[in-house]
Amino acid sequence: MAAATHAHWSSRWAFIMAAVGSAVGLGNIWKFPYEAGEGGGGAFVLIYLLFVFFIGTPVLIAELSLGRRGQLSPIGSMKKIAQEEKRNPLWGLIGWSGVVGAFIVISFYSVVGGWTLAYMVKSAMGAFSGIDAATSQSTFVNYISDPVWTLVSHFAFMAITIFIVARGVEGGLEKAVTVLMPALFAILIVLVVYSGVTGDFNAAINFLFNPDFNKLVTNDAGNFSLDKVLQALGQSFFSLSLALGSIMTYGSYLTRDVNIGKSALTIAGADSAVALMAGLAIFPIVFAYGLDVAGGGGLVFMSLPIAFGQMPLGVVVGTLFFGLLGVAAITSSISLLEPPVSYIEEKTGLNRRKVAIYMGIAAGLVGVLSAYSQGNNLLSGIRLFGLDIMGVKDFLTNNIMMPLAGMFTALFVGWFVSRKAMMDELAMEDQTFRIWYFLVRYISPLAIGIVFVKIIYDTVVG
Ligand code: TRP
Repeated sequence: MAAATHAHWSSRWAFIMAAVGSAVGLGNIWKFPYEAGEGGGGAFVLIYLLFVFFIGTPVLIAELSLGRRGQLSPIGSMKKIAQEEKRNPLWGLIGWSGVVGAFIVISFYSVVGGWTLAYMVKSAMGAFSGIDAATSQSTFVNYISDPVWTLVSHFAFMAITIFIVARGVEGGLEKAVTVLMPALFAILIVLVVYSGVTGDFNAAINFLFNPDFNKLVTNDAGNFSLDKVLQALGQSFFSLSLALGSIMTYGSYLTRDVNIGKSALTIAGADSAVALMAGLAIFPIVFAYGLDVAGGGGLVFMSLPIAFGQMPLGVVVGTLFFGLLGVAAITSSISLLEPPVSYIEEKTGLNRRKVAIYMGIAAGLVGVLSAYSQGNNLLSGIRLFGLDIMGVKDFLTNNIMMPLAGMFTALFVGWFVSRKAMMDELAMEDQTFRIWYFLVRYISPLAIGIVFVKIIYDTVVG
């Protein structure tokens, strides 16, 4: 039985905070700064921003529109709109991919979310005081290899997510994001200022913004390669939380009076601003303390603690930093639990509280496999195609399901939903509508298609 009507955001502000909360996540704070640094600084930043606004944002608009038009879970909305437009019900698969993909992603996202909580506590207890690089590394490896503590932190993170989602759109999501997101911005500003004053701000600016186009288009071996350009495109989609049903679900809670185009630009702008600010918070410290800029995931969990252990007020700064990561992760994970919860709720008519608890526990249990696949933990020996379990889930969602669902979403809206329906949904000025329509029909699907083909080629040939 499909619920005739469900909850809605009580204001545009609440919706924007929720959507920005979904977009701003672990990806912004450690992945983006690192990729930008590796990809030629300003050159990468420039091309990333072009991708966000010309390829990602049109799809963001498409997803929000589909959600609001359908007023159901991603699966329900896709089926309903396909039916209205007299199209094949198989378009519902986009919704399925989102709901299943979100379930898989939250099952490992919450593992890393748990690490950030654990590191917040470690930092507050002064665990980093005076540690050297070797100790920092062994602290991290020992932690992720510990079957008890990784389980505790993973379920603690999941419990917070469940607690928020169980309380529903107004009582849970809105309350959480309208407190957490302003807090996140405040912490970020404090960290940027502190880091700029005490660290090497000039080196950071130079590293992040000095455009080195040569570096952008060469690989480690020094040959011409578009790998980093394609990585920028993938990151732009990941960062905007596209193609996992989350944005479509948030769109379904929208009322008719909200302007989707303007909202999407605000969301994309805020998401990009946070990514850049995260770079400005991290790199002055990295340079001032001579840490390895190319640390990847280890940058945050292994390199930064060394600096926190030495700097004045390091306990406070470290705790704030991991708190920031934790908040960013929580506001993303609630949007990952939403698509499966909204679907089961709609399908079974059970109350949301029950569904959120069961779904969250189910994802938590599946997530144990990911948690135990890290470091030297219990399942770390299991390898599929050379990847550990977390890596397999990441590859499947990020490299296969998300590009496909994103591309088909753009194609559906651009070619299979009537132009009139979209004009009605978006209520844009003619000129703006024409630009969006062109991007969503041609540019977005083409760009995503190229990335997808490249991923498959690399996997099969490389
Ligand atoms: N945007 C999040 C980040 O930058 C990660 C993410 C990708 C996500 N897809 C999502 C979060 C869907 C929530 C929903 O870390």
